[in-house]
Amino acid sequence: MQRRDFLKGLAVTGAAAGVGGLGPLVGKGFAAKKLENIGECKSVKVTCVSETSWFDSPRMLQDIKDGGGAMVSMYDIPWTQSNIGGYVALIEVEQLDGSKHVIQLDTGWHQDWTDYVLDKSGLTALLSSKKVDALVMSHEHEDHYWALRSTLKRYQNIPMVIPNTFYPEGKAMLKGKYKNDKAHVWNDIPHTGELVEVSGDKIYKMYPGVAVKMFDIPIMLKTRGEQALFFNVKDKGVVSVTGCCHMGLLTMLSWAARNIEGYKPYGCYGGLHIAAFENWDPKFDDIIKGAKKIGLQKMGCNHCTGWIWAQKAKDEGLPIVLGTQKYKEYKKTPTTGPGAKENVYLRNGDTITF
Ligand SMILES: [Fe+2]
Ligand SMILES: [Fe+2]
Repeated sequence: MQRRDFLKGLAVTGAAAGVGGLGPLVGKGFAAKKLENIGECKSVKVTCVSETSWFDSPRMLQDIKDGGGAMVSMYDIPWTQSNIGGYVALIEVEQLDGSKHVIQLDTGWHQDWTDYVLDKSGLTALLSSKKVDALVMSHEHEDHYWALRSTLKRYQNIPMVIPNTFYPEGKAMLKGKYKNDKAHVWNDIPHTGELVEVSGDKIYKMYPGVAVKMFDIPIMLKTRGEQALFFNVKDKGVVSVTGCCHMGLLTMLSWAARNIEGYKPYGCYGGLHIAAFENWDPKFDDIIKGAKKIGLQKMGCNHCTGWIWAQKAKDEGLPIVLGTQKYKEYKKTPTTGPGAKENVYLRNGDTITF
């Protein structure tokens, strides 16, 4: 698909671009920028270390409601500890010269669960031997960040890439000086490695074919800013890897098309924050239509995408990759999902290669 056709497609579905909570990035302010050459890599493999941030959705919703609603700070909510897990992904990038880079995306929520999945996935061994090149934080949300301690106790000076929009609580966590008994979050191990704080006005190029873009947006539960990773895979196209994708799938892809030199849509992995609590909204159909026009070839969805959306997207022809039965080997499985006839999520222990 030509870039012009892609943008034309987006114009038709522009209404859906803001569904994740954003619209302005689709405005003309970003269109005039020069395209960024992020280079190329050979392949990207993503392992779902854990996509289970909570095990029971009604309980999670009730916690938010009891805590005062979605506009309250997540640091002020007494989360039900028996319900929480966390989000972590392991990304292995092969470069054109055969060398490899290992990136950890996010640090989970409950420390016990995170310790368990880091061990089970092999990440503990990689972290302990300093074979993880970087820890990229998608955003500050509790389920992606609050078990930071589990990563730091394995590799205290791991290079980190975070949005430059963390709140004081999140920054205190990084310094190993945070304890909050109400929300059950603490970290007493200071991060001692290199820290890159990415602002919303530039692309952070990590390695050939690997870049981070921070979308500076307000997010529920008093969080600000989410980063996506972009991989430009030779002869295939651009793959996005996200935590929650609060900026919205179409907004994110629209940004990539406008800013990455030689952009060709190819794939995605991660949470897409569409029907996070399985409630249907007619505008979710527009995201399916928009994604079809863009022409992604391989989609790995999970976490806050919504089973209901992923199944409908697959039924309507989007290339959703099905998960395996590996998640059943984990000590705990979610009570919610599969609320779908097929296993339309890449679940704990699953991998996808682009
Ligand atoms: Fe999340
Ligand atoms: Fe989130």
